[in-house]
Amino acid sequence: MTFSKDFLWGGAIAANQAEGAWNIDGKGPSVADVATYKPNLSLDDYHGHLKVSSDLIQQAMDDPSDKYYPKRRGIDFYHHYKEDLALFAEMGLKALRVSIAWSRIFPTGEENEPNEKGLEFYENLFKEMRKHQIEPIVTLSHYEMPLALSVKYNGWVERKVIDDFVRFSNVCFHRFKDYVKYWLTFNEIDSILRHPFTTAGIIPDRCPEGKEEELVYQALHHQFVASSIVTRDCHTIIPGSKMGAMLTKLTTYPTTCKPEDVEITLKKNLQNYFYADVQVFGEYPPLTLRKLERKGINIKMEENDLNLLKEYTVDYLSFSYYMSLTESAEEGLEKTDGNTVQGVKNPYLPSTDWGWQIDPVGLKISLLELYDRYNIPLIIVENGMGAKDIVESDGSIHDEYRISYFREHFRQMREAVEEGVDLFGYTSWGTIDIISAGTSQMSKRYGFIYVDQDDEGNGTLARSRKDSFYWYKKVIKSNGEDLD
Ligand code: BG6
Repeated sequence: MTFSKDFLWGGAIAANQAEGAWNIDGKGPSVADVATYKPNLSLDDYHGHLKVSSDLIQQAMDDPSDKYYPKRRGIDFYHHYKEDLALFAEMGLKALRVSIAWSRIFPTGEENEPNEKGLEFYENLFKEMRKHQIEPIVTLSHYEMPLALSVKYNGWVERKVIDDFVRFSNVCFHRFKDYVKYWLTFNEIDSILRHPFTTAGIIPDRCPEGKEEELVYQALHHQFVASSIVTRDCHTIIPGSKMGAMLTKLTTYPTTCKPEDVEITLKKNLQNYFYADVQVFGEYPPLTLRKLERKGINIKMEENDLNLLKEYTVDYLSFSYYMSLTESAEEGLEKTDGNTVQGVKNPYLPSTDWGWQIDPVGLKISLLELYDRYNIPLIIVENGMGAKDIVESDGSIHDEYRISYFREHFRQMREAVEEGVDLFGYTSWGTIDIISAGTSQMSKRYGFIYVDQDDEGNGTLARSRKDSFYWYKKVIKSNGEDLD
């Protein structure tokens, strides 16, 4: 058998896209709760949460409804989690990646005492997972920092937020130590440069002119330091626990073998590695430091920061992989969308309806690259295909396109393992349909389980099994051998 007998076949969701219940039981608003969706806008306009301003945040907070803010309602996982976990268990999931909404535990991020109701919710959730023998993999920060910290301090720009995050993490470690062994610090830590607000609460109009990039790197440094501190604390509070880093794997190919194309591509890939380099090797890569220096970017560091980074590195590396990208030194080539990033269109690859290029071989390349570079255990914590599903008159959903996407990716994953990559798990993204992170749409569906809700929140929220549900169940049962 290719996959180890305890390989973690699983699924993944995030609190802000699934839970709903955005303002009950003491939860404070998070940066996700101001992410907008408006019907009949172009795809570009859908990326509403990427274009944030102080005015838009105020407008959102003056509107108590969830009409234009779908992440406020999610799929009401908060009240449906037992039913959903039962379906996950029926599929045979061995692991589920979830995140903890920081503002459910500390509504403004700065309270002295945590919100007991929030802690209770997660404790019950983890207990229920254990009841079904589903291993929790828990992300501490998945695009959902308390909005109050963003507004008051411009998010992670302010060093003090490290203390707030460490306090929150420590509360979680103490409370959930009997249930959770696998932890992750920041979801897609590299995304801070692509969408600083969602990732780190940074509001562009609060940054002095010309200083935004410098502040983003400053915030990133604070996240690196926080990651080291909580890795240390996690190991102390939960002996035997494992802390991981989480990277968006943006594997990029040159458009041609022209050296200029290869050079620009190499630089893109090095930029993508940089975040994992810091968290795995425990130091800033010299080329990155030089690049920042040449750009006039000065990161303020405290005396002990570099020691912390060096001493408390992560135990494993997790990553998301949806598509590959192509880069060119030439201007004006046709572009296509990817995960909050664009690339040159690759003529050899088909795309999803959202323009993301489907590239199973790219997954294998990513696994080989990452394992060769870091030589620590890997886990794929997001992979999947956003698609519009059609519900037939008898309620069935024939999502052959999704099965085919997964099948081809699993074949490549299997080959990578056979070639020696230490991969200990795989959690597909959006195991159940949830709100899209990038576009706030419900109709961009990733799940094996369909949720009856449209983009505007109409629907019964009833859950039903797609064809892919039965297929994934078979894959898990055969430990990845039966992909037909
Ligand atoms: C990842 C995020 O980047 O991509 C998820 O971690 C997100 O939160 C996923 O949902 C898919 O992106 P989208 O925009 O299609 O939901």
